[in-house]
Amino acid sequence: MHVDRYERYWMWAAIGMLVLFTGAIVITAVTGAAHPPSHTEVIDPETLTVAGEFATPGVTTHEDGRVTVSLRAEFYVFRPEHVRVPAGVPVTFRITSPDVLHGFQIVGTNVNLTVAPGYVSQATTTFDTPGEYLVVCNEYCGLGHHLMQGAIVVEPGR
Ligand code: CUA
Repeated sequence: MHVDRYERYWMWAAIGMLVLFTGAIVITAVTGAAHPPSHTEVIDPETLTVAGEFATPGVTTHEDGRVTVSLRAEFYVFRPEHVRVPAGVPVTFRITSPDVLHGFQIVGTNVNLTVAPGYVSQATTTFDTPGEYLVVCNEYCGLGHHLMQGAIVVEPGR
């Protein structure tokens, strides 16, 4: 089959772009630990405030030093609003919503979750630098969306 020379150049250019962009996705996923919000644990949004992990959200420290933080994102606050965690240990954030879609972004880190009612979103990060990290809701959730923020206070490691 005859393919015109310029058409062949463009075909190779298109293949080259596919390789380049796919490579960029793979490199950011590996080096930046970026990933889609694919955690698919489900939860009943109507009962999560009554009983279970998210009825009493907060910080749990495990025997090996790892930390789990359970949170609720709801009109227009994160519960708990302020969280204290140690630096230098893996911290797993687990968050869900009893009402509408919210966001959970810890500014200055790669933690950026979509919080959808019915699902538990989860991300693990290690804070190397102590300090106060701003948490913002980055999904428009209603009239108080711009007020919806919290803080992670990272204390020097033990
Ligand atoms: Cu919650 Cu915007």
